[in-house]
Amino acid sequence: MKEIIDVELRTRTVDFSKCKTELLAIGHFSDAKGLDKVSAELNRKLDGAIERLIELGDFKGKDETSALLYGNANIGAKRILLVGLGERKKATVDTIRKAAANSANRAVEMKAKTLSLALHRAFGGRFDLGTMGRACAEGTYFGSYRYDEFVTDIENGRLVRLGVEVIDSEPTKTRKLNRGLINGIIIGKAQSYARTLMNRPANVVNPAEIAAAAKKIARGCKNLSCTVFDEKQLADKGMNGILAVGSGSQNKPRLIVLRYTPSSRGRPKLPTVGLVGKAITFDSGGISIKPAPDMNQMKLDKTGGIAVLSTLKAVSELGLSVPVIGLIPAAENLPSGTSYRPGDIITTFSGKTVEVQNTDAEGRMILCDALHLAVKENCDVIIDIATLTGACKVALGIYMAGLMGNDEKLIKQLQRAAEDSGEKVWPMPSGDEYAKEMKSKIADLKNIGSKWGGACTAAAFLRQFVDDKKWAHLDIAGVEMFEKATEFSTEGSSGFGVRLLTSYLMSLAGK
Ligand code: BES
Ligand code: MN
Ligand code: ZN
Repeated sequence: MKEIIDVELRTRTVDFSKCKTELLAIGHFSDAKGLDKVSAELNRKLDGAIERLIELGDFKGKDETSALLYGNANIGAKRILLVGLGERKKATVDTIRKAAANSANRAVEMKAKTLSLALHRAFGGRFDLGTMGRACAEGTYFGSYRYDEFVTDIENGRLVRLGVEVIDSEPTKTRKLNRGLINGIIIGKAQSYARTLMNRPANVVNPAEIAAAAKKIARGCKNLSCTVFDEKQLADKGMNGILAVGSGSQNKPRLIVLRYTPSSRGRPKLPTVGLVGKAITFDSGGISIKPAPDMNQMKLDKTGGIAVLSTLKAVSELGLSVPVIGLIPAAENLPSGTSYRPGDIITTFSGKTVEVQNTDAEGRMILCDALHLAVKENCDVIIDIATLTGACKVALGIYMAGLMGNDEKLIKQLQRAAEDSGEKVWPMPSGDEYAKEMKSKIADLKNIGSKWGGACTAAAFLRQFVDDKKWAHLDIAGVEMFEKATEFSTEGSSGFGVRLLTSYLMSLAGK
């Protein structure tokens, strides 16, 4: 099978116009008055080509647009990509991340071997250079990512390698960019790793396969260990929620526990964070089977779990000082003669009983067991992430994840992490009104609420399994994938959650 594109990323001090490269990317704001220093110098050496392009109205600097120019004997670059940054006052860190992604996407498309990014120069001193270096790296991985490991037709195939550099003419600036770039490379790589595992279909990735991937990651990562509970161990522990959901498939369920224990070296001990991720390797709905259209997309129902795995990989490589436990319940939800049924009453790991009214509300059935384990493991903070409800996709669309929780400070911290990472969240309720809807007449809870507010009732169900721990829930249904390719991404898995969770943990660790 083909490996994903090998991106090599570094910084380099070089004169912008002398930089030898196949593609040089520079940024341009739609409301910029004239050209900035770098563009002006290139424009001069190109006999006014950039100015002519803009005056003709062929490129207006709008976001998600770009224009291509060709170099001449006066400059080192073979091509120049003008990347639109939109309105200056609307610019955020995500603007430069997306511009880098757009550039890398174009570089892969035109089979360039080298790409040089000078995007940060258009921003002036707006953001610090480390932050921009990190965003450039994350964006580069994001935009150059392709999922084609099963495409055997190599006609017009992409290159296997892309060499990318973030350049500046001043060594002090390059050094600052590099500090962030190093972190961005780790995060970007972790996200690309996640996207591949997420994109793999359910006949390739089953619960045991995720467990094997987690073990392999743990072997290669410092201070990271992995234990896996198989079916028998799940039964011994009474994790009947996970077992019930997995009971219809030949591919038996697992619970994966990853432990990151930072070397303390006299540092004050930070609170332990539990990350819980839903990993349904395929969600057919089970006996309450889903309609056929788009059911194939339910291979992405493992996104939350893999986001947790990849976050732990990033956390370990970054060497963060915060202890993290990753808990990944993994199962396949299929209908068969051994499936759990509507009407079944399941005694979950916590002891709470759940009346199953719909086997398609399976995410909460596996998460409740993992959440209870996070409580028993004494996590100070618990964050779960799951493609949990179609209702969340209806409510928020495909741009933001739903964010629920029981702790204002934690909600604020995650909103901040969303700003840093460009993976957006929007607060939603999950309080008593919703919890009441989840009461059953014949068990402690039922697994579905009324017709309305499905994202909130689902969160209210989960809330009842975290005791008094600080808890937040991310419903990522809708943001886990791109239905169509965009300027800055290929279609399929978005890898949502890796940047968000890593950003949250980085700020906890003061990095
Ligand atoms: N995995 C789905 C939610 C989902 C839907 C994710 C669309 C991504 C895109 C989840 O397990 C599910 O089936 N939820 C049900 C809950 C209902 C039965 C209460 C839903 O949303 O319909
Ligand atoms: Mn479902
Ligand atoms: Zn599901």
